[in-house]
Amino acid sequence: MFHKELKAFPKNFLWGASTSAYQVEGAYNEDGKGLSVQDTKDVIEGTPDFKVASDHYHHYKEDIALFAEMGFKAYRFSISWSRVIPDGDGEVNLKGIEFYNNLIDELIAHDIEPIVTMYHFDLPYALQLKGGWSNRETIDAFVRYSKVLFENFGDRVRYWLTINEENMMILHGAAIGIGDSQNDNIQKDLYQQNHHMLLAQAKAMQICHTICMNAKIGPAPNITSIYPKTSKPEDVLAAQTFSAIRNWLYLDVAVYGKYNDIAWSYMVEKGIEPNMEDGDFRILREAKPDFIAFNYYCTGTVAESKIGETDLKTGGDQQISVGEYGVYKGTQNENLQKTEFGWEIDPIGFRITLREIYDRYHLPLIVTENGLGAYDKLEEDGTINDDYRIDYLKKHIEQARLAITDGVDLLGYCPWSAIDLISTHQGFKKRYGFIYVNRDEFDLKDLNRIRKKSFYWYKDVIASNGEKI
Ligand code: BG6
Repeated sequence: MFHKELKAFPKNFLWGASTSAYQVEGAYNEDGKGLSVQDTKDVIEGTPDFKVASDHYHHYKEDIALFAEMGFKAYRFSISWSRVIPDGDGEVNLKGIEFYNNLIDELIAHDIEPIVTMYHFDLPYALQLKGGWSNRETIDAFVRYSKVLFENFGDRVRYWLTINEENMMILHGAAIGIGDSQNDNIQKDLYQQNHHMLLAQAKAMQICHTICMNAKIGPAPNITSIYPKTSKPEDVLAAQTFSAIRNWLYLDVAVYGKYNDIAWSYMVEKGIEPNMEDGDFRILREAKPDFIAFNYYCTGTVAESKIGETDLKTGGDQQISVGEYGVYKGTQNENLQKTEFGWEIDPIGFRITLREIYDRYHLPLIVTENGLGAYDKLEEDGTINDDYRIDYLKKHIEQARLAITDGVDLLGYCPWSAIDLISTHQGFKKRYGFIYVNRDEFDLKDLNRIRKKSFYWYKDVIASNGEKI
């Protein structure tokens, strides 16, 4: 659909960028922090551990000054659960509270709105040892943790995100480095974990509305439209099924408090549906998000998978779907180019996804991730000329504006990532930031911060409220 005239980005649009605690902070065992599952996992060969990351813990003032120089209106970051409660459900670590108090105050002093993710892939290791999300008691631990956050930071934080990419933790836990299930029926256990996280999220949303009267809260899954490989009805059906399993299962529960019918029948068919307790549906139904935050990198394309087929590859990650026998088969989209790391690039798919989510739920949306992972080069003259990143972001921002013109209520855009950090499974070399951090995979160098070309470009985008891209 073409528009003769485009709507402007809203006046208080939340331009910013995102990070997550374990990928940026470092200081993995400082000032009383407990270990998380990210600190204890076996990292993939050739990639670094998360002990130092971008050392944001010690550089946060300098980093926020740079965010302010870019003109950020918002900064989306996550709180490390095990920095605040080292063993997940015991003593509160005052030093951890102090760090996030300082961080939030520093943001506010620079007129930057904090958007806080409560949990981003880094479950406290002590909870993992007790069964992690397979253990229903982890719901209570999360509820208690959420109260600690609301009570300590709720006077200043107005935007809360519950759980980052719960759907990717269930579908691609291995790539993200989430503890493997010991259970014989891994998929059944995963959907049980999922149910517990959905309950934990619902309870946190309710508590937030009770404790922080002026705050808004929402889920933060990775959502992307799913295309059928061809117009063959079988492929269209497979795309619908995959979208239900990947996308709508998570958002239908968060928004409507009910399981998506197609996703539920998929689970029943496989005998992997979660066990429920009395009252679970009431808890899910009574929680209401104020907005939907979502991460978008590219669309997915699938074909039908016939029972008995044996050609599905294993692996996959957040953006590369492999498939499931008899359900769907991930395929490449020949119309799209790919990043150096093999993720497809689909700016129009961003508009399609924005429209699709808004059309289903009619809640305001915030984009909490979108971006290009690339091998950036620090030139001898000290510049980083990341024109490819500018090109990627520019095309996505153009599509966001078109989606706004289509009628989508979009509150903000926070691409990944504010500053270079460690990728979930592809090391430091896969950079996303506007700010270069001078370190390699294993050589920490001086960790200096250097403005990339995209830094100056994004500054102009924000200053012109998206008019000058
Ligand atoms: C999202 C995650 O899946 O994608 C981030 O929320 C992650 O934590 C980002 O870093 C990019 O993925 P990757 O695998 O390149 O780090």
